[in-house]
This record gives sequence, structure tokens and C-alpha cells, in this order.
Amino acid sequence: MNIYARDVRTQVGIVGAGPAGLTLALMLGRAGIESVVLESRPRAYVEQRVRAGLLEQNTVELLHELGVGERLAREGLEHHGIYLRRRGRTQHIEITKLTGRKITIYGQQEVVKDLIAARLQHGGALHFEVSDTEVHGLESEHPRITYLHEGEPRELQCDLIAGCDGFHGVCRPSIPAGVLREHEFVYPFSWLGILAQAAPATDELIYAWHERGFALYSMRSPSISRLYLQVPADEPIEDWPDERIWAELQVRLASEGWRVNEGPVIEKGVTPMRSFVCEPLRHGRLFLLGDAAHIVPPTGAKGLNLALNDVRLLAAALAEWYATGSTDALDAYSETALRRVWRAQDFSNYMTHLLHDLGEGRFQRQLQLARLDYLERSQAAAHALAENYVGFPAAPDF
Ligand code: PHB
Repeated sequence: MNIYARDVRTQVGIVGAGPAGLTLALMLGRAGIESVVLESRPRAYVEQRVRAGLLEQNTVELLHELGVGERLAREGLEHHGIYLRRRGRTQHIEITKLTGRKITIYGQQEVVKDLIAARLQHGGALHFEVSDTEVHGLESEHPRITYLHEGEPRELQCDLIAGCDGFHGVCRPSIPAGVLREHEFVYPFSWLGILAQAAPATDELIYAWHERGFALYSMRSPSISRLYLQVPADEPIEDWPDERIWAELQVRLASEGWRVNEGPVIEKGVTPMRSFVCEPLRHGRLFLLGDAAHIVPPTGAKGLNLALNDVRLLAAALAEWYATGSTDALDAYSETALRRVWRAQDFSNYMTHLLHDLGEGRFQRQLQLARLDYLERSQAAAHALAENYVGFPAAPDF
């Protein structure tokens, strides 16, 4: 008798314990649907992995609904606008005034910590450091996941599998060739990001256009800053000692009588910039969510928010299927989720093209300045940016 007998069969097998997989497990649990979550990395790794940290109002509301919003309410920083800066000139986009909605700064790894704690508190199955994960029988009514856990081979029979295992995960590549259409654009630059022990010298995020490239001033808390610089693609991090990073940030973010607050750098890394969508988000009994299915460049701060929107839609569709036997919402999942994904792709692409040096010469750079000027002169233009940035309200079809 297998001592892990409860793991031999489940309703939904979830691959990946990032924000998507963990939130899905919690939402299903609330609907009385059982799941097992499998993660290849150690718990400490997923809890420490530094990612973006901007939550749309929809995302915050969803986390509260799931009962995991307590620390978020205490430690999250509510923002009501963003700054756009170029050539020392700063425009404040009044997001809340324009849209009635707000954004919250709270690190993705903090969201993950809260979700893991809630999953374990509810006694749900969640296994870290599983290896050799494979999904089988996707076109049958009895898909299976095989994997190694603590050196033992295991097999999990499911009604359905949720692929929440990120862009480099095993789920998407398990779909036979020719089924998915993939749309991809790789930008010719990366973001160098740092986390620093320094009080942010700004109350809200600053997105800066500069002749030398884009820079972003973000934060994590009243004492921790998060900053980014556009650098060439595949830039070696060794070429960027801390002094060079700070000097470049001071130049690109410069404003009269003001400076970026410097302090010890606690984390740094280079992230490539990519736009990617595969469709449909489903093959048979395998459903794809979050980064496993789509990647946006971070300029629009949409990645985590899109992932949780996929979860909201799939969890509702599964609840309907288990309650009534109707597959209508499951059948509509891909098309519905992709509607918001493509809206976010367009917005992220717009923000990226608005602010980065795309290597396309002076004419394009002048167009960017004309667009930034337009945002300052036209409330319609500022409103369009604001409503996209803050995120459209959750709806059954969006
Ligand atoms: C972040 O704080 O990490 C962050 C914020 C806004 C972005 C991207 C990243 O657009």
C-alpha cells in the first residue's frame, strides 16, 4: 500500500507552484475541488525568487477573496499614479483620478509566501523538489502525471491537468507539434534590475525615457528600492559593478535638484525581454496558465496579473463543470483568457516602444518624444494609458 495513497488520484493535477498554480489550488479548494501541486524547485527558492511586484486591483481583490490578503493589506504600498519622465521633465499620470482604480506594490515572492502558507494551512497537497515530471494521456479522459518524489517514482491520475510551470516548463512542450500556434517577439535588449537597501526617493514609480535608454524607479517598501536599466541583450552582469549601475541610474532618472537614493545592493540580475503567446491555451485535458502560455515584457507590469486572471477564469470553468457537467466555460477558457492576454500584449508593447531605445535611429526617438508630449497635452491619451495600466475590471468574458 502506497503511503502517499491520497496522491495516487486527484481531480486536478497542477504542475508548478508559482502564483498561478498556488492560486488555482486555493480557488479550487474553496469550490470543494481537490488538487495536487507539484513543483520542481525547493520551497526556499520559489519564496526568494525576485520578480516584479505590481498588483492590479483585480489581483488584490482576488487575493483578499481567497483569504490571503492580510499581510498584503498591511505591507502593500497603494499607488494612485505613475510618473513619466524625459529630459528632466516629469508628468504625473493620475491613474486613480482617471479610472477610479488603484495599483498596489507588493513583491511577487511575498505573494508566493502567503499562498504557500495558506495552502499548507488548509492541508492541501503541495510537493517541492519533484523531478522528471511528465504529463501523459492528454487526449484521453484520464490524463496522468508521472514524477519522482524523494527518489520514488510516482503516478498521479487526474481528471484534468493545469500547466502552471512557466515559460521553460514541461507542459507546453508536451503538446504534440502542430497543435499550438506560437507568436513570439524577442526584443534586442534586456533589463538589468537591482534591489537596494535604500529608501525610495519617490512616492510613485518613475518610468524614464532617456537618450541612453530606459530606466525605472520602483520600490518594495519604505526602505527598499527596486530599480531597472535598459541594457543590451545578454549583457554580462559582471560588466555592471554597483558604482556603474548607480551612476547610470542617476543620469537616466535625473531631475533638477533631486537624486536617486543609493544604498547597498542586495540582489541584481539581467532579464531578457520577450513577448510570447501560444494558442489555444488547451490541448485535450491539459490547460495552460500564466507564463507557460504567454510572456509580456515587464514594462506594462502585467505578467503576474495575467496569470491570476487565467486562474480566475479556469477555476470558475472547473467549478461549473464539476457542479453541472457542462463544458461550456471550459471550452471557452482559451478564447476568453486570450482576449485579455492580447490586450496586455498590445499595452506592454506600447509602453516598451514608448520608452526604450529600440535601436531604430533618431526619427523613432523623436516620435517617442512626440507621444510623451501628447500624453501631457491630451487627457484622452493619458486616460488610455491609465485604464490599461491599472487593468480592466474582471468580467466573465474578459
Ligand atoms: C517592479 O517593481 O518590479 C516593477 C514595477 C513596474 C514595472 C515592472 C517592474 O513595470
